[in-house]
Amino acid sequence: IVCVTAYDYTVAKLLDAAGVDMLLVGDSLGMVVQGHDTTLPVTLDQMIYHTQAVVRGSEKAFVACDLPFGLCHRSSDVVLEAAIRVLKESGAQAVKVEGGVPVAQTIQALTTRHIPVLGHVGLTPQSVHAFGGFKVQGRGEAADRVLADAVAVEEAGAFAVVLEGIPARLSEKISARLTIPTIGIGAGPGCDGQVLVVYDLLGLYDGVKPRFVKRYMDGSALVRQAVGHFAEEVRNRSFP
Ligand code: KIV
Repeated sequence: IVCVTAYDYTVAKLLDAAGVDMLLVGDSLGMVVQGHDTTLPVTLDQMIYHTQAVVRGSEKAFVACDLPFGLCHRSSDVVLEAAIRVLKESGAQAVKVEGGVPVAQTIQALTTRHIPVLGHVGLTPQSVHAFGGFKVQGRGEAADRVLADAVAVEEAGAFAVVLEGIPARLSEKISARLTIPTIGIGAGPGCDGQVLVVYDLLGLYDGVKPRFVKRYMDGSALVRQAVGHFAEEVRNRSFP
């Protein structure tokens, strides 16, 4: 399963044409689009706005939209209301919910009403302050907690689960144990699929670069070169 994040129409169209299976409108947009240090400030309205644009750019790819921080802390009814808005107003086919055992009931409230849920366990960025930073989860004894989270997400009816920032051996174990597909990010090669943040993949994001990120092109250099060329031609009046 090839999954890439997308936040706008043009990039979604390119990713879709490149054969990406799933476009994830991640709340990582809070960091790579809005310039915040965490994903916490992102609102539901912003997620819907970006997802609408991505859905317009996607012909074949499945589109999932992150439920932003603060929703799953509230009642299942509030989350259900939000997920209905996402599907109705944006056209996404699924929502992503961060968390395991503590949000399993909430996930179930969605899936029993036929709202497809993509789970997300391990280094869940919405819990960054509880983790004391963007730190690998599930090392040593903590592995059992991540495994229990993944199992709870599956039992609650999620159709797949993102495993983020956990040791490769743990993601292999979880992938072998679950019947639903696992999609890894910083979780080694043992998952059923992989996801990357599009600005990382294209080398466009100059912020913190996690060790697992592979840049498939040096986008920043290409943009600097192209825009520098444009600036030069405007200034020496060779363009237009
Ligand atoms: O917000 C996001 O982009 C994500 C992916 C990196 C999994 O949750």
